[in-house]
Amino acid sequence: MLKVPKIFIRPSNELDRKSDSDLTHFQIPIIDLQGIKDDKGMQQVIVKEILSASEKWGFFLVVNHGVPSSVMEGMIKGVAKFHDLNNEVKKEWYSRDTKVRVRFYSNFDLYTSKAASWRDTLTFLMSTPEPINPEEMPTICRDTTIEYTKHVTDLGDVLLDLLSEGLGLKANFLKQMEGAEACSLICNYYPACPEPELTIGAARHTDPIVLSILLQDNIGGLQVLHQGQWVDIHPIPGALVVNIGDLLQIVSNDKLKSVEHRALSNHIGPRVSVACFLSLRFDVATRPCGPIKDLISDENPPVYRDILMKEYMDHFAHQGLDGKPGLDFFK
Ligand code: SIN
Ligand code: FE2
Repeated sequence: MLKVPKIFIRPSNELDRKSDSDLTHFQIPIIDLQGIKDDKGMQQVIVKEILSASEKWGFFLVVNHGVPSSVMEGMIKGVAKFHDLNNEVKKEWYSRDTKVRVRFYSNFDLYTSKAASWRDTLTFLMSTPEPINPEEMPTICRDTTIEYTKHVTDLGDVLLDLLSEGLGLKANFLKQMEGAEACSLICNYYPACPEPELTIGAARHTDPIVLSILLQDNIGGLQVLHQGQWVDIHPIPGALVVNIGDLLQIVSNDKLKSVEHRALSNHIGPRVSVACFLSLRFDVATRPCGPIKDLISDENPPVYRDILMKEYMDHFAHQGLDGKPGLDFFK
């Protein structure tokens, strides 16, 4: 393919690919989790670092996080192998129904966005909180996905505990409230693109969940909006990218920030990334969710009304990745 088909050509205001990192020398915070389990003093330092990164950037990298490199590499290879299967095989997994636990699709927002994005996706609803039946998963990446999920959800538990502490709540507060009870893996595949300057891998958006842990290969393309400028999140071998989702911004009453990010398309590819979305269980859809009561006071009144999860999910599904700040809807 020498040209990008018309449906993928994005509006020109989305096509400024420049990252401002070189000009501003902004550097996304890197947090080393070494010693987190057995050194109380170190734990306090890390809590402060994570809180500050989550307030100022909404994003940070973690190293020495406990997920073995071999497991991370296996996950990336497994996802690439699935996407490299021929279309006849992948067709069996195709679905646009978000309740289907394993599904292959392209452009979840195809019918709401102005143009298509240059990526395909394989999604696993690993726990809802009922665990997925492994028989439902494609054999080509089944074992690697199960193994990776075990490790990455353990890391999710650690991060939620640190964030709870940072907010001044008891250690397991966030985990108990919504916890890592619903976990999905969004496995993205960005094929090499003949005209990357005309399209985008993932348009600017915030994540509609509690916390996201992103594994990316060594190609790059992820950018985060910081102080009005796009900053590259260059891949660092062994590191994982963590970002705050909309729900955590809501329950923390705007203390932690859910920040816009995007993924550029590239001449080089395929690029693979896997986002582990930690979110609310589906059965809280009809229960209201809002700023945590312990965080509210006369000096810190609630920024958001209590919303129904269903209201929030419908809003996100309707809006797609159009880059509008979705959270204003809930003020
Ligand atoms: C996303 O945030 O949707 C994907 C990010 C990435 O692939 O780097
Ligand atoms: Fe995202």
